[in-house]
Amino acid sequence: MSTGKFYITTPIYYVNDRPHIGHAYTTILADVLARFHRSLGDDTFFLTGTDEHGQKVQNAAEKRGVPPLRHCDETVVRFQDLGKRLGITNDRFIRTTQEFHKKVVQAVLQDLYDRGEIYRAEYTGWYCVGDERFFTEKDLVDGKCPECGREVTAIQESNYFFRMGKYRDWLVDYIRNHPEFILPEFRANETLGFLRQELGDLCISRPKSRLAWGIELPFDKDYVCYVWFDALINYISGVGYLQDEKNFARWWPASCQLIGKDILTTHSVYWPTMLKAIGLPMPRTIFAHGWWLTGNTNMSNSLGNVVDPMAMIDRAGVDAFRYFLMAEMTLGNDANFSEDGFIARYNSDLANDLGNFVSRVNKLVLRATSGPIPAPGKLEPEDGELLGAVKKAAETMASSLKTMKLDAGIAAVLNAVRAGNRYMEKCAPWVLAKEGKTERLHTVLFCSAELLRQTAVLLAPVMPEKMAQLSATLGYAPGEIGTIGDLFVKPGDLAGRIMKETEPLFPRILVEDKACCAPAPEKKPAEKEEKPANLISIDEFFKAELKTAKILAAEAVPDADKLLKLQIDVGGRPRQIVAGIAKSYTPDSLVGRTIVVVANLQPAKIRGIESCGMLLAAKSGKELKLVTVDGEIASGSSVG
Ligand code: MSP
Repeated sequence: MSTGKFYITTPIYYVNDRPHIGHAYTTILADVLARFHRSLGDDTFFLTGTDEHGQKVQNAAEKRGVPPLRHCDETVVRFQDLGKRLGITNDRFIRTTQEFHKKVVQAVLQDLYDRGEIYRAEYTGWYCVGDERFFTEKDLVDGKCPECGREVTAIQESNYFFRMGKYRDWLVDYIRNHPEFILPEFRANETLGFLRQELGDLCISRPKSRLAWGIELPFDKDYVCYVWFDALINYISGVGYLQDEKNFARWWPASCQLIGKDILTTHSVYWPTMLKAIGLPMPRTIFAHGWWLTGNTNMSNSLGNVVDPMAMIDRAGVDAFRYFLMAEMTLGNDANFSEDGFIARYNSDLANDLGNFVSRVNKLVLRATSGPIPAPGKLEPEDGELLGAVKKAAETMASSLKTMKLDAGIAAVLNAVRAGNRYMEKCAPWVLAKEGKTERLHTVLFCSAELLRQTAVLLAPVMPEKMAQLSATLGYAPGEIGTIGDLFVKPGDLAGRIMKETEPLFPRILVEDKACCAPAPEKKPAEKEEKPANLISIDEFFKAELKTAKILAAEAVPDADKLLKLQIDVGGRPRQIVAGIAKSYTPDSLVGRTIVVVANLQPAKIRGIESCGMLLAAKSGKELKLVTVDGEIASGSSVG
């Protein structure tokens, strides 16, 4: 199964941005692909990082009154923390402000300059600060930036240029002769369309008088390097170019360079021509994925409609979030993110189909054997059908990796799980147990557990934590269950392993309470082992969803001297709660305060008035104080 080496990159993110679902998506996608390739036995390297030079960073640092590098040091942690929360297994995190990277960029610039690939010339044109790009008069659309529609500034200055234009014909031929170079195919066509017009040379310098925050040109200290020229070089500096040639030869050319559709031209035109001039081979594939939209419009921090990945993880867990992003988006196309869509897929694929199947198999094996997974007896046609469906799912998953159709691979595994649920209904192992048909019972239980074993292996790259939990349930020590590659070459080793009792893997999300998006509290099984009364696990704690809420209105409840009826706002959604705080607070004193509420409490009627949630307060004797937050924070923020 192994195809040898796999080097995957993500774009490096502007350190200024607040990470949102778009950034999380590319990084998770790269992580899933890296994990899959490791699981197939490929020698894998995964690079991600941050883009830290340029006008936007300089402006943001100036606005905060801090030096640019300090600004970068303080903001880069957002991306590093997000990576940790998402379970990202990158081998290196590169920052373009690191000394080794700056040295490589300078060496590349000097070499290209010495060989006449970079020259100096007068430039007159239009500059977009937002995109940090120059445009000619004819590029402009209604006098504005053709990329983002913002105002452009007329600029006349002396600058350095990379002879990009002379590579146009070569690039057109290369794209035509290498159908895997730019994917999906329609993005290759888009690039060829762009190359139909004349290709100009690329301005690769900025005078320090206008922009000081960048890598100094080695041949002219009055200039810094254009941020895109610097940033693209991360893909080679990050694996040792000009520093560790052995390592570089091991990884370059990259196998897969993931990008979003908005940065196609820089990657499909600037980058290949730069590599050609440097004298390096092309990456095998540059893959442009689509965008996540909200309400079918673009997401942006300025529109305030971005989906915060941290909040999604807090609500539903990291693996459910990873699963949704991978299963929902057909690679290459745009997809819409909505909470309804997320809950619907979670409840149907994970809670109903997979989660239920795991619970059923778990309970039935424990009931039948008290632990050991039985060996199968003679296989009947329906057993062969089920095992055949699993095998097909494994093949589809492996081939979907090559064709970058991850959603199809995941769907194939889920279809096999659904076949498992139908198999169970058909074979009715509970009836076999009652009738004492032990051999048949054991065969059915074995085949069902085998489906779970392969599912745990196949979905591990997408849901590493949950699938590790499933493997442990099936009696495997961490890492022992094997790889996707093993599924094709090694026989299974499930019979005789000791099944362990499991908690539900994917507790259902209550649709009624979708604003909370929190797993419903599980009923405690009667036979559960006693725990010390005052200890709870972190999972139990997180079942209570604590959120900030703003009090919009408050009034006394007639004939109840302790109660107040509060109208509150939780993340843009109005709610009503009834609270026993009338002895400590007057209604007027409460309006406008930000309090903390348990947001996923089942609604209850108090004195006939509906109360959806509970506020938190500290109490000592008769004294009561509301739990509030330190400073301003949006209502609906998670607390924990
Ligand atoms: N710094 C440059 C990349 C330099 S690579 C040498 C950059 N950074 S970015 O932070 O603005 O964007 C990084 C990636 O996030 C891009 O691939 C972009 O397409 C992706 N996304 C930003 N918003 C997105 C969505 N709403 N959905 C999916 N991905 C999106 O560009």
